[in-house]
Amino acid sequence: MQRRNEKKDDGFTPPQHIAVIMDGNGRWAKHRFMPRVAGHRAGLESAREIVKQCIKHNIKVLSLFAFSSENWRRPAQEVSYLMDLLLTGLEREVEVLHKQQVQVRFIGDRSRFSDILRSKIQDVECLTVNNTGLVLIIAVDYGGQWDICQAAKALARDAVAGLVNPDDITPEHLAQHLSYPDLPHPDLFIRTSGELRISNYMLWQLAYAELYFTSVLWPDFNAAEFEKALAHYAQRERRFGYCSEQLTES
Ligand code: FPP
Repeated sequence: MQRRNEKKDDGFTPPQHIAVIMDGNGRWAKHRFMPRVAGHRAGLESAREIVKQCIKHNIKVLSLFAFSSENWRRPAQEVSYLMDLLLTGLEREVEVLHKQQVQVRFIGDRSRFSDILRSKIQDVECLTVNNTGLVLIIAVDYGGQWDICQAAKALARDAVAGLVNPDDITPEHLAQHLSYPDLPHPDLFIRTSGELRISNYMLWQLAYAELYFTSVLWPDFNAAEFEKALAHYAQRERRFGYCSEQLTES
């Protein structure tokens, strides 16, 4: 278990998994008298830069919240633009990501996507499945409550099939049915744009994440801002329920 992030000779223990809410695209565009979609386009460039930074820092997992279960409520034109951006972004980036050994995974409910987007997602996942570098999780039509709910359904099916006794169910059983059971949970959560909310992102998995909020809007979140988030993380003492003295003794 990783408890402390204190400075070591070779730097600090980096987070294994960084989860990001890329917020503020709309405001970034508004400040420039541009349409909201221009903010999303600029946001995609920031996402690309942060992938690069994660590779540079040997981060194991980066998860980006690209579209929430609730984002369907946005104007139809914006939703359609975001879906197109996802599709064209994948088409444009997949070869580079593959060359960089990035394994791309998607989490969320795919049932409302177009056939073409669903099939592109599947192609990208298949192409990169054996890559051994950064795992890039893209959360689309994702919600933390949806994730827990689909895990509960799977567990209920196991109970009905007699595979597990309901009285023996533990948090670990449920966690095995969440979206990425084989990967570490986020150590560092970043949200841009000054909002201090988790907004139904990985509700279960963020239980012990260090939270970093910055007022910088996502399209302005660059390598230097990423370093600031890592520096914030480096100063945190991770206690996981222990008290500080116990950690010092060990
Ligand atoms: C929130 O900003 C951002 C989104 C809902 C979309 C995020 C999508 C991208 C950055 C592009 C796609 C990225 C990938 C990795 C495929 P907002 O629109 O809520 O901004 P506002 O709060 O200022 O209005």
